[in-house]
This record gives sequence, C-alpha cells and structure tokens, in this order.
Amino acid sequence: MKVLVLNGPNLGRLGKREPAVYGSTTYADLVSLCEGTAKELGIDVEVRQTDHEGEMVGWLHEAADHGLPVVLNAAAWTHYSVAVRDAASQVEAPLIEVHISNVHKREEFRARSYLSDIATGVVVGLGVRGYALALRWLAEESV
Ligand code: DQA
Repeated sequence: MKVLVLNGPNLGRLGKREPAVYGSTTYADLVSLCEGTAKELGIDVEVRQTDHEGEMVGWLHEAADHGLPVVLNAAAWTHYSVAVRDAASQVEAPLIEVHISNVHKREEFRARSYLSDIATGVVVGLGVRGYALALRWLAEESV
C-alpha cells in the first residue's frame, strides 16, 4: 500500500515556525518520522509539502485517480478552501485530516474545518506523532 502524506502552506517551516505552538521538530524530521514509520509498518509513503493551493489540488486529484489513501494537513486551507475540500472529496480511499496543534484550543477560526466532515477521521493536537498514528491506522485498516 502507498500513502500520500500531503502538507499545506507554511509546514515546510516547521521547527522555525512558532515553536511554542508547533514544536521544534523540523519538516525534515517530519519526513523522516513518516518514512521511518512507513518502513516499520511495511507500507510505502510519499511526503510532500506545498505553499500553492493548485499544486495541492493536483496531488489530491492524483490520489483520487490512483486510489491512494491520504494523510492531509491542509494547514490554513483547512479553514477556508472550498477548492481543497472539493478535491479531497474526490478521494475514495481513506483520508485522514491531521493537525499538529489542537486547533480547538486556539483562535475561534481554527475550530472550523472544511475537511472534517468529509475526512475518514481526524487527528488533532498530538504533535507530529499524529502523522505516525494516522499511518498506523491506515496500515491496520488495509489488512
Ligand atoms: C495546523 C493548524 C492550522 O490552523 C494552521 O493554519 C497550520 C497548521 C496544524 O498542523 O496544527 O498551518 O494545520
């Protein structure tokens, strides 16, 4: 099984970006965590990040066309992008929404997600380990 781990805007700056909120783990560390977890679980993973909404939409189309499960941290797009929602809606394989921070403990606008009601499940506020948990669930689910 192959899983796409897709990250939206500003997540490439993990480690440098608001460490009090997102921790000191860098984006490179996040990629290693996902790759290491996937190896342990015996699945393939491809981890990507973009600051461009159209690129994210294209990746979700790719997941839809190839039947690939997705771990999606759409970052700020979560809270306002109908385009990302519409693309994510086309993914028929499981799609797990992940947020590093607990979006329900922060500004009110972050509690609104355009993805949660179309996602298979949501992992929120467990730090970067949320990605590993999502991958583990997908691997177990596919057996
Ligand atoms: C985030 C939460 C979003 O509100 C924010 O815009 C992000 C990261 C998280 O992983 O906690 O960029 O998705």
